[in-house]
Amino acid sequence: MNIRHLEAKTPPPTTIEDARFAHESEEEFAGILDFYRVRWEYEPRTFPLKQSDDGRVVEAFSPDFYLPDLDLYIELTTLKQGLVTDKHRKIRTLRELHPEINIKLLYKRDYLSLLAKYGISMVDEQERLAPGEVLISASQIERRLNELGAEISRDYAGKEPLLVGVLKGVTCFMADLMRHTALPVSIDFMTISSYDGDRSGAVRIVQDLTENIAGRDVIIVEDIIDTGMTLQALVTQLQARFPASLRVCALLDKRARRLVDTRIDYLGFEIPDEFVVGYGLDYRQRFRNLPFIATLRPEAPSASS
Ligand code: IMP
Ligand code: MG
Repeated sequence: MNIRHLEAKTPPPTTIEDARFAHESEEEFAGILDFYRVRWEYEPRTFPLKQSDDGRVVEAFSPDFYLPDLDLYIELTTLKQGLVTDKHRKIRTLRELHPEINIKLLYKRDYLSLLAKYGISMVDEQERLAPGEVLISASQIERRLNELGAEISRDYAGKEPLLVGVLKGVTCFMADLMRHTALPVSIDFMTISSYDGDRSGAVRIVQDLTENIAGRDVIIVEDIIDTGMTLQALVTQLQARFPASLRVCALLDKRARRLVDTRIDYLGFEIPDEFVVGYGLDYRQRFRNLPFIATLRPEAPSASS
């Protein structure tokens, strides 16, 4: 069977103004991509999946987005659960016919947690969340810090690296990491904006470094890498300032949710796809002061009520 994809006859829409989205979630997702300067095309291609005996296409599939820089197709499934099964089947067929294609299915909960992460939660504002299960204990963190500190001290022996922390989530990790590094390190911090639902914005440095990093051995220190879009934007910005070297040290990696593949040179822990708090990480600015890393769960109603 010779099934080729149909090229679109007109160029696909690449801006929110031009695209006619089928769902509001697609528009919101495009807004997030715009913010992180990840270029996208909306439904640029239709892939025939099944042909009848006389050669007519009887089943086809148009993934929602194509991200040309990442060579990645994205299909959002914010629709009814019943349709998800059908999409699974279509994506399976697409992968069989076109093994060279990268496609990622974003489920409704992926999308909601993207929004929740940026504080634009669709979850009821009144729903109270509290720390749940401890995912990584204080002593596990301590043990890993010993190892990371030793590794960095070895790799940078004879050098004086500059640790660049991204506020605010990195505060605990930065404070501990530098104390586990047996080197003359310097530190600096920056604050960068994250997506807030404002479609006109882009990643911005809200508070810049005070140090000049040209010619320095820089290590970006991050709390958690999720989609990878923040780190990507940061690496691009810092690379343009000609550091002698630039590496990344992250405490946590939620690899299952990666969209932009960015290299992490030093990693504390890989964690499952769950929202976590503690040891610097927050949910709406709360829980940063927990000495361990925990998941979130709905708060139990208080006994007095
Ligand atoms: P990314 O651009 O999607 O990789 O997002 C990275 C940023 O999102 C981190 O620096 C955190 O501020 C925030 N973030 C991502 N996942 C979590 C989480 O599980 N808990 C708290 N903050 C998170
Ligand atoms: Mg669609």
